[in-house]
Amino acid sequence: MTRYRSVKGTRDLLPPETGVWAAVEETARRTFELYGYREIRTPVMETTELFVRSVGESTDIVGKEMYTFEDRKGRSLTLRPESTASVARAYVEHGLQSWQQPVKLFYVGPHFRYERPQRGRFRQFHQIGAELLGDDSPLADAELLLMLDRFLRALGFRELEVLLNTVGDQESRSAFRDALVSYLEPRRKELSEDSRRRLETNPLRILDSKSSGDQELLAEAPSLEEHLTPAAREHFETLREILDGRGLAYRIEPRLVRGLDYYTHTVFEIVSRDLGAQDALVGGGRYDDLVASLGGPEVPGIGFAIGEDRLIDVLPEGFRDEVIPPVPTLAVAVGEVDPTVVMELSEELRGAEIPCEVDLSSRSLGSSLRRADKAGVRIVLLLGEEELEEGTVAVKDLEEGTQVTVRREELIGRLGELG
Ligand code: HAM
Repeated sequence: MTRYRSVKGTRDLLPPETGVWAAVEETARRTFELYGYREIRTPVMETTELFVRSVGESTDIVGKEMYTFEDRKGRSLTLRPESTASVARAYVEHGLQSWQQPVKLFYVGPHFRYERPQRGRFRQFHQIGAELLGDDSPLADAELLLMLDRFLRALGFRELEVLLNTVGDQESRSAFRDALVSYLEPRRKELSEDSRRRLETNPLRILDSKSSGDQELLAEAPSLEEHLTPAAREHFETLREILDGRGLAYRIEPRLVRGLDYYTHTVFEIVSRDLGAQDALVGGGRYDDLVASLGGPEVPGIGFAIGEDRLIDVLPEGFRDEVIPPVPTLAVAVGEVDPTVVMELSEELRGAEIPCEVDLSSRSLGSSLRRADKAGVRIVLLLGEEELEEGTVAVKDLEEGTQVTVRREELIGRLGELG
């Protein structure tokens, strides 16, 4: 027989872990709603062209990581590797520029990248993201970072590091690109193979090369910072002043350029030391030209995406402990009592929002109690012939080792008292 397994790089999330995921997502919703964000749900597939245009032809994502396929009519479709492009497309498609600006949207869901699986890296992974469209001020950048900080604190994180940089506007970037290429071109032979290729396609990406040889060469290279236009410099300085004023700590990382082409001005990542090689928990930045590049109006934007799989991998214990759901009360039919009578009783409890399970496979009272104990059940309700006749229920508290007889009509109140 074939043994069926989940596809490489994908995985099943099972309970009780799914409870942790739900609680993290609920915390994100609550926090983001405090800032006026509302949820958007876009399709998991888009036309391939959307990602090629926005994320960029020469990026790793578009070049080698997309799940791209033809549908039955020969259209090229792609499973979304990220959602900023989808949100920008939806903004244009539904004319959201006619809404009150800025438009603040968040999303939660699976994304797909064909990468080599390892710890913290999956082919189907999950992002919790937020996008703010229609405000180009550094105040918007600051507010977004404050929201992110509030969310991570609500989960109990304290030790995360925010890396911050600016890639400037188009003008700053093209001036820097020219200077960088002029510097590296005569040293081309000393560059790694990847960086030699990037020198043609996407020189800025050479900055975050992992090769130590490349990094040595870059030590003397012109910097992005010295090519910023006055406007780009001012945007970044104002953002820093606001963050300093709010006491939000960050580290300037002059080589941070991010792996997607749509960024302008502010870019950031949040990293965790607990994660290992794949240490980026969050990535984000400003994208003031993206909406227009997709045929929409000139609308600036900024956003971030949190890698939910990684976030949960390093989630502080305290948060985890709080989300363990209560073990339901167990109702057992004793002796000759018809189990459907017990089912009726448990439906009553559920109607009062008291979690309850019926031991349908009950063979004997002893085996039911042993199973209940093993499952961590606290309260067992016993319904025997005597109780049935008298209109009562025996309430056994396994934690306290007590048993009391309670009238049926008082049962819900009594269980409520027990919590
Ligand atoms: P990104 O940096 O490509 O940015 O991805 C954001 C986060 O998603 C990463 O920091 C990481 O935690 C997680 N992630 C990415 N790939 C994987 C993977 N294969 N397995 C597990 N986790 C992964 C974006 O996607 C941008 N759309 C962020 C953004 C929003 N910029 C502006 N708005």
